Amino acid sequence: MNPTANYLPDVKNQYEALPYPARDPADEGKRLILTWLDDLPMLNHYCFAGRRSFASGFRVLVAGGGTGDGTIFLAEQLRHTDAQIVHLDMSGASLAIARERAALRKLGNISFLQDSLLNLPQLGLAAFDYINCSGVLHHLADPDAGFRALRSVLKPDGAIGLMVYATAGRTGVYQMQALMRMVNGAEPDTRRKIANTRELLGSLPPSNWFKRGEADLYHDHKHDDAGLYDLLLHSQDRAYSVDELFDWLGAGEHGHGMQLQFTDVQRGRAPYLPHMVLGAKPPALLARLRQLPLRQQYAMAELMGGSITTHSLFLTRDASCTAPYGDADYIPFFFHEPLDGATLAQVFASNKGQPFLLQHQHSGVALTVNPGRYGPQILRLIDGQRSFGQIFEQFRQDWKGKAAAPDNAALFADFAESYETLNAIERLLLRHPDAGVADPTT
Ligand SMILES: C[S@@+](CC[C@H](N)C(=O)[O-])C[C@H]1O[C@@H](n2cnc3c(N)ncnc32)[C@H](O)[C@@H]1O
Repeated sequence: MNPTANYLPDVKNQYEALPYPARDPADEGKRLILTWLDDLPMLNHYCFAGRRSFASGFRVLVAGGGTGDGTIFLAEQLRHTDAQIVHLDMSGASLAIARERAALRKLGNISFLQDSLLNLPQLGLAAFDYINCSGVLHHLADPDAGFRALRSVLKPDGAIGLMVYATAGRTGVYQMQALMRMVNGAEPDTRRKIANTRELLGSLPPSNWFKRGEADLYHDHKHDDAGLYDLLLHSQDRAYSVDELFDWLGAGEHGHGMQLQFTDVQRGRAPYLPHMVLGAKPPALLARLRQLPLRQQYAMAELMGGSITTHSLFLTRDASCTAPYGDADYIPFFFHEPLDGATLAQVFASNKGQPFLLQHQHSGVALTVNPGRYGPQILRLIDGQRSFGQIFEQFRQDWKGKAAAPDNAALFADFAESYETLNAIERLLLRHPDAGVADPTT
């Protein structure tokens, strides 16, 4: 550990006593845990314009990597490349678990570093293409100092996958934290504090704000002591609204000038978009809200839905890092679920070509979608191999209409709403042929 200890002692003590998330290395033989932000095909779409092959020279930092979920998932995906992954954490106990998980999997592409991420500018590490920092910056006394430290080791065209707490969805958590500070007072014993919390949780009425959220928003405390302590007894914990994140990290006067691309676990941008939050029977005023800048829409949707407990987002240099819709060279592919074009074509044609109700189980999205005139036919041709140009060419070969078949621009326009809907929930993504094989892990 660096002698210029640059960390909060209480926070370090917590993660030495209760490494988070609690993991048993023996479970590596049974399953691979997937971490949402670190799935390479999605990372590629949002951070490298879908052009990265990951085949050579890719450098990853997992800052505050804890017991290793993100590290292991990235290292597994990059196993057959020469990528280097640095797992940094100040907790020796967490590091030991992450190290053992990697050893059991015989992953040789990870270096482990026990240090504070605030020391990154002085560690002499070569710059990184991708930095994952999930659930860490909100536990620093000065999160911006942490962010600047990450930035100092990021390549100019690199990207950050960030997760920080969200204010609105954690309302009940902060009330419970305040309550437990009063109940526990100066109690020094961690076990006693955990026992007090469990005892109280067992008796609180359903009207309690934390209890109100227990069914769908808060789960960590149900798993184990590490989860309960992290959620309800943390000594250093803050949260952000959408607006605060844009002010901090975005293009404003005092921001870091980065592009923010939100992607909530399983739901993508859906909880950030008013038309997706308001569902199948939107109010008339929605049309006006949809004209507002995206930042404002995101901020309103956060308050409408109330269900965002963490903000997961990619931070990139600018908007050109996202794979563009409308370029015929790009290859569309279905992701995050075993979807195929034929099945989706049926769903999109379910109302005889008219707007239909899309009900998507995993994201919870239910909204009316206009499939356009050709949506189902285009969906049917998506196989993860053909580019849009090839799909449209095939479409024209199949064309039986009397008028001339639509050109690429007309087809892109027609398919735009279908694409935007499926892309918003991260079920339809893009890669450029430069990225090489569809799945970089093979
Ligand atoms: C809530 S855990 C998240 C772990 C992991 N990123 C994940 O999502 O599974 C927070 C981690 O950040 C680490 N941490 C907190 N402050 C840190 C600092 N200044 N430098 C390095 N690690 C830090 C803690 O030791 C802990 O392992």
